Amino acid sequence: MNAPTEQTALRIIRLDHKRLATITTAMLDFIKQVADGGPAPDPIVLRAMLYYLREYPEQFHHPMEDRFLFAALRKRTDDYDDVLDELQCEHIEGDVRLRNLEHALTRFELKGEAVLFGLRTLLEQYAAFCANHRRVEETLIMPAAQRLLSAQDWEQIDAAFESRSDPFGDATFEGESLDSLYRLIASTVPTVGETQLPS
Ligand SMILES: [Fe+2]
Ligand SMILES: [Fe+2]
Repeated sequence: MNAPTEQTALRIIRLDHKRLATITTAMLDFIKQVADGGPAPDPIVLRAMLYYLREYPEQFHHPMEDRFLFAALRKRTDDYDDVLDELQCEHIEGDVRLRNLEHALTRFELKGEAVLFGLRTLLEQYAAFCANHRRVEETLIMPAAQRLLSAQDWEQIDAAFESRSDPFGDATFEGESLDSLYRLIASTVPTVGETQLPS
């Protein structure tokens, strides 16, 4: 028996998760290098990564989950309401954590290694927070959606995800769109390149 094909929306969500996780890991690697006495990366690279982590989920990934996947699941059952409420709160909390990280990065740029520990701790906490968020979505919510949503539900959800012809909106960083920013980051970190979207 063939394994069922995963819906387009879920494939896109998984790919987004992979890209976000890879950038978080790359940031941790950079900080670790500095802590180990290696050369400090150009702070603009870290700032570009933070910008991507903040803008992409806020403008696109989280709203799509909230408006389409979570909303459809809520219509079919109340069983996951508590989990979905928590996940939606985490979408907001993630943004606050990123702002704190940006402040910590600014302090690092101004004061150097003396404040590296604080930046590294915040980043490790953020990485763990996001990993748990993704784990709940991938192990609980996405399988529940696959079990409970109808073919018609998926038609609408997939169409919404597929129609993201310009998923990156007008956001730019130093004149780069978020898509080209991701490619720029990928060019500085070999492991990021593995999760690039096909161009
Ligand atoms: Fe989410
Ligand atoms: Fe997600």
